[in-house]
Amino acid sequence: MAPVNVTVTGAAGQIGYALLFRIASGALLGPDTQVSLRLLEIPQAVKAAEGTAMELDDCAFPLLSGIEVTDDAKKAFDGANVALLVGARPRTKGMERGDLLEANGGIFKPQGEAINAGAASDIRVLVVGNPANTNALIAQQHAPDVPAARFTAMTRLDHNRAISQLSSKLGVSVGDIKRLAIWGNHSATQYPDVFHTDVNGKSAADIVNDETWLAESFIPTVAKRGAAIIEARGASSAASAANAAIDHIHDWVLGTPAGDWTSMAIPSDGSYGVPEGIISSFPVTCQGGEYSIVQGLEINEFSRTRIDASVAELVEERDAVRALGLI
Ligand code: NAI
Repeated sequence: MAPVNVTVTGAAGQIGYALLFRIASGALLGPDTQVSLRLLEIPQAVKAAEGTAMELDDCAFPLLSGIEVTDDAKKAFDGANVALLVGARPRTKGMERGDLLEANGGIFKPQGEAINAGAASDIRVLVVGNPANTNALIAQQHAPDVPAARFTAMTRLDHNRAISQLSSKLGVSVGDIKRLAIWGNHSATQYPDVFHTDVNGKSAADIVNDETWLAESFIPTVAKRGAAIIEARGASSAASAANAAIDHIHDWVLGTPAGDWTSMAIPSDGSYGVPEGIISSFPVTCQGGEYSIVQGLEINEFSRTRIDASVAELVEERDAVRALGLI
């Protein structure tokens, strides 16, 4: 079988360094799938990415059939089956939101075009670089020949963080927690929802039985975890972000476990009142390489206001990139 072509942008960055070795070891697509890596970087960082490629060679991974390093998006995405868009323009001091969106438009528009021009017909795209949901929307809008649903953004780190917080609160292991959901934007407005979560056959919300804890401790802790990591580590989350990216693609391609679901930011089909087209996080199940939104969940008032607030932020971001002519 031909190897799966996996393109990683921002390959010389922090997340790239934590991600590439796990992809090459088989964590992304399983122990029977050969992968060929394409590393895309900006010209100034190509040399550093080449250094990482040398280290990948030195691991002698049996599943790694090749590595190519380039600063040319066309080459990087040619024949790509999986694309992890990690490289992005971070917000720097004094930068307005419009400047941030514009700078990222300059990255995600050409990358969307390159995906459209040359990616394999089964291309699956995960955007990690922030603002991830809106960057995914920009890339998608410039890839009209690729099914829109193939463009997704990462809320799996938020999902994993929420499971971990809940497991310590309840004194259960993470494996005991099923069906947690992140809704909305990968930002401070995201909504981690435990109202459908199962803990060893019981409802997590019933066991917690404390809306104040949810509102004042759990939700802000999950939403602000990225800032807490920067404060403690002096650098942003990289290994946990890389791990979440692996989880996202792994489950999309290989499926979610029976009786469980995960969270992915995907183009809305209008479910749960989320405007069609915006890339918003939903609870999803995956099977046969396709995801579907978990339907029929009852959304209480507590959840509704929070989902609506995060979705409103996404609509604002979409309108802002539209006004800037980026989509
Ligand atoms: P980093 O700054 O260490 O690395 C970013 C890399 O991207 C750099 O090597 C840079 O040269 C490269 N890059 C910039 N523009 C590029 C382009 N046009 N093409 C290819 N490469 C390009 O950053 P780090 O820590 O690796 O984070 C990457 C992104 O992931 C950031 O935007 C960060 O905010 C985001 N992130 C998202 C998370 C999520 O849950 N969705 C979690 C953590 C980080």
